[in-house]
Amino acid sequence: MVDMSTVIGDIRLPSPVMTASGTAGHGAELARYVPLDSLGAVVVKSLSIMPWEGNPGPRVVELPGGMMNSVGLQGPGVAGWIASELPALRDSGARVVASIWGRTVEEYRQAAQALVEVQDDLLAVEINVSCPNIEDRRKMFAHSCDAVAGVIVATEDLEVPRWAKLSPNVSDIAEIAGAAGDAGASAVTLTNTLLGLVLDPVTGRPVLGGGGGGVSGPAMRPVALRAVFDVAAARPDLPIVGVGGIAHAEDAVQYLRAGAAAVQVGTATFADPRSTARIATDLQTWCRNAGIERVTDLIGTAHS
Ligand SMILES: Cc1cc2nc3c(=O)[nH]c(=O)nc-3n(C[C@H](O)[C@H](O)[C@H](O)COP(=O)(O)O)c2cc1C
Repeated sequence: MVDMSTVIGDIRLPSPVMTASGTAGHGAELARYVPLDSLGAVVVKSLSIMPWEGNPGPRVVELPGGMMNSVGLQGPGVAGWIASELPALRDSGARVVASIWGRTVEEYRQAAQALVEVQDDLLAVEINVSCPNIEDRRKMFAHSCDAVAGVIVATEDLEVPRWAKLSPNVSDIAEIAGAAGDAGASAVTLTNTLLGLVLDPVTGRPVLGGGGGGVSGPAMRPVALRAVFDVAAARPDLPIVGVGGIAHAEDAVQYLRAGAAAVQVGTATFADPRSTARIATDLQTWCRNAGIERVTDLIGTAHS
């Protein structure tokens, strides 16, 4: 029997496979396909301090190697989520990772404070810094070491571990990850979607209602995998959760070998809502066939 448990900082998970934020609903929507307590964790869609409408449709477009979305972080806000979604997640036995976003450092602070009352129900909080900072000409927080550090410090009222979810659209991801870790993040989640644009060739207008969007799925896997590899090399002390284009156990193996302690599955869930469970089962089989007794034995082996 392969030991599938893993550790992210101080947290032990029974499985290294989790859902990715924004791709498995706000609460227990996937429960009818996957026993949520069998997953490493359920990472819920990013929440802001206030309810948020998101972008006009169309919000998703299929691409040859995945998809592009411009959902625009639609959500019920932290208080709405605590009232309407958290109870079902709690009942499912899932290990819950909440995710927050903001347009200013103050909004991140407020979202984090609003989660403090339920933090006993949370395994961790992912801080999605891949959002425009309206106080800095709408530059993305995740594109600046100082802005990332400022957000992480602003969320320190939370006593549960905070993971910084970073953008791949930067020239030196190791520097940004290091800034997040130095500011108090217990782990980094690598990566969010790649910035993209699809135009209608006839009208010349963006296909998505929000204009550009975020590219996800297998096409971005080498990009996110490289980010994991580079951060693991630069900061071996900083736990990494890898995400981007994972659709099969072999993809997860690459992330673990590159240095991730766990992985998240996003776009694959849209094609098959059982993807997370299937990948976890196949990963166990893969390890057994390869003579690997503990899944953690794979972590970082690409560096040796
Ligand atoms: C429709 C959609 C919505 C997403 N919403 C969020 C979100 O709310 N917060 C976040 O941190 N990431 C969000 N993401 C990014 C994913 O969590 C993940 O980082 C990215 O899609 C790469 O993984 P994948 O290729 O497995 O999808 C979203 C992705 C998609 C496709």
